[in-house]
Amino acid sequence: MGEIDPAFVQAPEHRPKLSVIEAEGIPVIDPDDKEITEWYNQWPEFPPEMRETFQEYAYHMEKLALKLMELIAMSLGLPPKQFHGFFKDQTSWIRLNYYPPCPNPDLVLGCGRHKDSGALTVLAQDEVPGLEVRRKSDGEWVLVKPLPDAYIINVGDVIQVWCNDAYESVEHRVMLSADKARLSYPFFLFPAHYTNVQPLEELTDEQNPPKYRPCNWGKFLATGKRSNFMKLDVENIQIHHFRINN
Ligand code: OGA
Ligand code: NI
Repeated sequence: MGEIDPAFVQAPEHRPKLSVIEAEGIPVIDPDDKEITEWYNQWPEFPPEMRETFQEYAYHMEKLALKLMELIAMSLGLPPKQFHGFFKDQTSWIRLNYYPPCPNPDLVLGCGRHKDSGALTVLAQDEVPGLEVRRKSDGEWVLVKPLPDAYIINVGDVIQVWCNDAYESVEHRVMLSADKARLSYPFFLFPAHYTNVQPLEELTDEQNPPKYRPCNWGKFLATGKRSNFMKLDVENIQIHHFRINN
């Protein structure tokens, strides 16, 4: 397989203003929208090297995630770079999750059950177990055992839509430990805000018609209050709301 097109992974000194975790502009596309939402990263003063370290980390995560997208494209019988255009002005970001220990882990929410909404998640976790995935066949929660120097890759909702359910995003949650704090660092590969996420023409036909209506990614990002760390009474906007005949 060839190298990733350098146009999509910018060298550190040429990173665009709206690149990973620096800032995200979610502009107006729909004429009914009045507002532009812009998110800026807040860098702590200490430790002083944190900003540079994470920018460097994000750069490598981008590269890895795009490589994985190439493999996914090939597995679907598509040209390796099929998905790259969606990430030219990507809205990807990194979250640092800290889960303090809790003497009654069953009574608290670590990270509530959810699916990652973006394309792919590349998650680094430390050696403290906590992440669980829901097995589709029987609904059981299965622990993802931490392996040293290994990343966990989650397929997100966006891939599920692009490939019309050939891949499915996985439901997961995090349980707390009674005596150990846990850290994780997911990198979320998100497309450009102007992307209309919809099943690819190449993967749909009369026998396999599109299962989703187009969903504008910027709008989805700007309107959704993600539920990972909240117990919400009402369901927020989820990609399955764009499922046809749902
Ligand atoms: C997330 C998530 C899992 C973990 O941040 O979306 O699922 O192990 N994190 O912290
Ligand atoms: Ni998640």
